[in-house]
Amino acid sequence: MTILVTGGAGFIGANFVLDWLATSDEPIINLDKLTYAGNPETLASLEGDARHQLVQGDIGDSTLVSRLLAEHQPRAVVNFAAESHVDRSIHGPGEFIETNIVGTFRLLEAVRGYWRGLADAGIREQGRAPSHNPFRFLHVSTDEVYGSLAKDDPAFSEAHRYEPNSPYSASKAASDHLVRAWHHTYGLPVLTTNCSNNYGPYHFPEKLIPLMIVNALAGKPLPVYGDGMQIRDWLYVKDHCSAIRRVLEAGRLGEVYNVGGWNEKPNIEIVQTICQLLDEMRPKASGSYAQQITYVTDRPGHDRRYAIDARKLEAELGWKPAETFETGIRKTVEWYLANPEWVQHVQSGAYREWVNKNYTGRQT
Ligand code: NAD
Ligand code: DAU
Repeated sequence: MTILVTGGAGFIGANFVLDWLATSDEPIINLDKLTYAGNPETLASLEGDARHQLVQGDIGDSTLVSRLLAEHQPRAVVNFAAESHVDRSIHGPGEFIETNIVGTFRLLEAVRGYWRGLADAGIREQGRAPSHNPFRFLHVSTDEVYGSLAKDDPAFSEAHRYEPNSPYSASKAASDHLVRAWHHTYGLPVLTTNCSNNYGPYHFPEKLIPLMIVNALAGKPLPVYGDGMQIRDWLYVKDHCSAIRRVLEAGRLGEVYNVGGWNEKPNIEIVQTICQLLDEMRPKASGSYAQQITYVTDRPGHDRRYAIDARKLEAELGWKPAETFETGIRKTVEWYLANPEWVQHVQSGAYREWVNKNYTGRQT
């Protein structure tokens, strides 16, 4: 058995690949375009490991995807590949449309061709219902598709209306709709997960938590957008990975599962917590890291509050996060303190040189 993971050199995808191969010998084909967000150094511990193959390529390259599917005959595709940063989507939405919408469409079509072939070849044999066909397409999505909550609104359930507000969330919403339609119309065996904000090791330092850690240590300002009272619901990345594994294992076909850890926090509190942890673990010669906090112009169209209701996943599939926010954020700060080279290679661009030397143009 094999699985095909897309976007597995990015933050969540790479954590998923590392966790998967730490607990299973089932091989992974990892298709990643290696955009600025894809970092093979994150997967360095898998070099020479026959269970993992990194293929540089685009989910929108139908020929490549079809070839990989035919060659490796995966029992599942887990789609992490996306443009993921809201600020970048505001400055340049084109890539978000291209990868998150058109790319997902092309991926779905290639997967549909492969899956139909499996059915024709008798995988739906022995009088089993199509739901017993072992193949699964799991689409990794976000809570941002549901829009923004007011202070006292209940958390997002799977039935919440779609109301995306940024080019990023609109492109993810479109991809979710395509996945849904490919199930409804063609019967493609899909699963969708909509998760809240992740944090943890290997998070690209353009996102709030790693940016604040890295800037604090560099003595730079800690830029808090607007009044800092926007609320996000935080989940340690390894808990997201365990939820995806659980949904892949036992999720009902065509269903959507919200993933979250019931950890709503205002941004300013997150930044203050990071400063307190750094004051404790890497104290400055004088003063607190909190003195570097700087309020800056707000993000245009900034969503005020996200909160995930994860009861369906908990009740139906028995999933629970292992980390509280307190344990997860401590582990995260410790990881950044222990891995300055990973950060430094990202900041200096050295990780791109590595990409160019080792992978550009190389496909299987
Ligand atoms: P990321 O930006 O860190 O990684 C994305 C990866 O996809 C990179 O390795 C990149 O090279 C690759 N990629 C981009 N375009 C591609 C293409 N056309 N073909 C193949 N590969 C391509 O993102 P992330 O934070 O790891 O997010 C992964 C997925 O999870 C995304 O779909 C995102 O929408 C979703 N998600 C993220 C969060 C979060 O808090 N980070 C929360 C919920 C859901
Ligand atoms: O909710 C899930 C989403 O979480 C994912 O789908 C996205 O891929 C992921 O990037 C993340 O989106 P956010 O916009 O919530 O994450 P970001 O880390 O960019 O910002 C978190 C909050 O912090 C948000 O309210 C904006 C604020 N912020 C962010 C940055 C980078 C700041 O105040 N200052 C900053 O410098």
